Amino acid sequence: MNNYNFDEEFNRIGSNCFKWDGRKKFLGNENLIPMHIADMDFKCAPEILEEIEKRAKHPFFGYTIYSGSHFECMAEWLHRRHNWKVLSNNCLYSPSVVTSLSIIIFSLTNENDGVIVQTPIYPPFMEVVRNNNRKLLINELKLNEQGNYSFDFDNFEDLCKKNAPKILLFCNPHNPIGKVWEKHELLKVAELCKKYNIIVVSDEIHSDIVYKPKKHVPFASLGKDIAELTLTCTSPAKTFNLPSISSSVIIVENNNYKKILDKALDRFHLFLPSAFSVLSFEAAYKYGEKWYNSLMEYLLINREVVFNWANKNNKFIQHVSPDGTYLAWISFKSLNLKDIELKKLIYENANVALDPGTRFGKGGEGFMRLNFACPLNQLNRALEKIEMVFK
Ligand SMILES: Cc1ncc(COP(=O)(O)O)c(C=O)c1O
Repeated sequence: MNNYNFDEEFNRIGSNCFKWDGRKKFLGNENLIPMHIADMDFKCAPEILEEIEKRAKHPFFGYTIYSGSHFECMAEWLHRRHNWKVLSNNCLYSPSVVTSLSIIIFSLTNENDGVIVQTPIYPPFMEVVRNNNRKLLINELKLNEQGNYSFDFDNFEDLCKKNAPKILLFCNPHNPIGKVWEKHELLKVAELCKKYNIIVVSDEIHSDIVYKPKKHVPFASLGKDIAELTLTCTSPAKTFNLPSISSSVIIVENNNYKKILDKALDRFHLFLPSAFSVLSFEAAYKYGEKWYNSLMEYLLINREVVFNWANKNNKFIQHVSPDGTYLAWISFKSLNLKDIELKKLIYENANVALDPGTRFGKGGEGFMRLNFACPLNQLNRALEKIEMVFK
């Protein structure tokens, strides 16, 4: 199928790995099959590893600057893959996407200002709002009988009228539901944000993990006026499985916001990258495409395996396969269990770690999130164990 072996079950234990080594400390059981946490159980692309190894042999790890081509590599990728032209001058370094979300909220809003999020949502979206003492405004996604989610425009407008929020935190593709927002939906969101003078912070970290025929549309690519009100946060962390390299980008076209953010990053001394983060970031976008294409073929199979498994009985259901992300959002509602009981059964009886839907806020009740970015054998083992519990 390809030159990369995604079937290999590599032992990650002993590498201070959150997902595997953290099981005992955070989940109280080191034997769980870890199908939670959004990092992949696939080795880093050999093309990236080669660059890291070369650099590791150079025995100096002093303060590091960006090469002139740092943001260019990413800009070329964004142009080639998402048809979005980004200028390096509009890119700011930040160690991680969640750091960016927090810094943006901190520097562009004041205490008690409203920030809107769509639940169910990746939990740090809610945490960064609360931790900065801003007002968390929940615009729960609408779920229809067929299991499709949509943006609640009426409730959004209501929240805007009542609270005059400053920021919309938007997730595209949306973790945990795997929705890739369509252009017409984005345009409608943008129209309302313009009307109510709201800054859009678009987290596009999952934008490369999108399955054909769906296409990712960068929010800021919708037009010059929309780009002016948008801050895009992204990184190679999900695409290339590099979440610990601590290198991400805030793309900002609005000069005023750029100046404010520059100052905030300076204030917290967040502008100095590590030697390995600079290098891995560049290597990923320069040399990682072949590996990435193979990865997408593999994920496509795993996505189907989960979908077929979930829908072969009516105990748990995955209404729709994710358009994007390597995360499956599975409903266990027909079992009529309390969330706490559901978690207990899956953790203690199946010995599998999934992310309980309740972590993702309102609308997450009765769901579990499963990360299928792992070797097929591991995936099948976890699915079999869950199935046994509900036989
Ligand atoms: C939507 C979203 N944003 C951000 C992150 C984390 O990004 P970082 O590690 O760069 O903070 C994740 C990780 O799962 C995510 O799903």
